[in-house]
Amino acid sequence: MAIETNVGTEFTEVLTSRRSVRHYDPSFKISDEEIKEILELATKAPSSANTQSWRFLVVTDQSLKEQLLPIANNQQQVVDASAVVVILGDLEFYTRLGEINGAAVKAGYMTEEIAERFTDHYTKLFPTIPKERVTEIVAFDAGLVSMQIMLSAKSKGYDTVPMGGYDRDKLRAFFEIPERYLPLLVLPIGKAKEEGRPTVRLPLEEITFWNGVK
Ligand SMILES: Cc1cc2nc3c(=O)[nH]c(=O)nc-3n(C[C@H](O)[C@H](O)[C@H](O)COP(=O)(O)O)c2cc1C
Repeated sequence: MAIETNVGTEFTEVLTSRRSVRHYDPSFKISDEEIKEILELATKAPSSANTQSWRFLVVTDQSLKEQLLPIANNQQQVVDASAVVVILGDLEFYTRLGEINGAAVKAGYMTEEIAERFTDHYTKLFPTIPKERVTEIVAFDAGLVSMQIMLSAKSKGYDTVPMGGYDRDKLRAFFEIPERYLPLLVLPIGKAKEEGRPTVRLPLEEITFWNGVK
């Protein structure tokens, strides 16, 4: 079956043609440069107070990918895809607010006064928020950036499969990931060897409430 490349196609086509792909060409290597382009594009995603709590652990080393196999419930895509991006949430994301808002001032997007007020407010607020809420914030933002990674990869002719089927504790232990970073998604990116299988969606009218939930 022909594999679509999707390079240069319309956005709606990228959206509708993305599927979870579980079979990759193991001989195909995406360059580090192109992976960086995909990630860079993805970070245009919105985030809570622009805190950008996502962090990326990019695994391209073949031996490391092979060792990921048992951690990822023996799902072969982690071995055969060119790269596996582990999306992490930085639970101490607010510590970088000064840096982010300082850069916005430098770029002329924010006055120094607003940047200081904003930074001061959120740097005090976030540490008072319960851990479960912080986890929810970083998980939500990670979801947004992950979707953008999948779509930017697709727009370049690559495929992905979001994976929650892995052992978080084992993954943390294997890569010695510090406690402050929460592994949220394992995301292989590669050249498809087989198309993803089609899936269905619930009818819109069954999932949409208008002007009140009944
Ligand atoms: C959070 C999350 C976790 C998932 N975990 C896995 C997984 O571990 N392995 C897998 O093969 N697919 C996994 N999937 C892919 C879903 O099965 C897939 O997105 C769904 O069936 C819809 O198919 P589509 O992505 O092709 O549209 C996951 C998807 C999401 C969003």
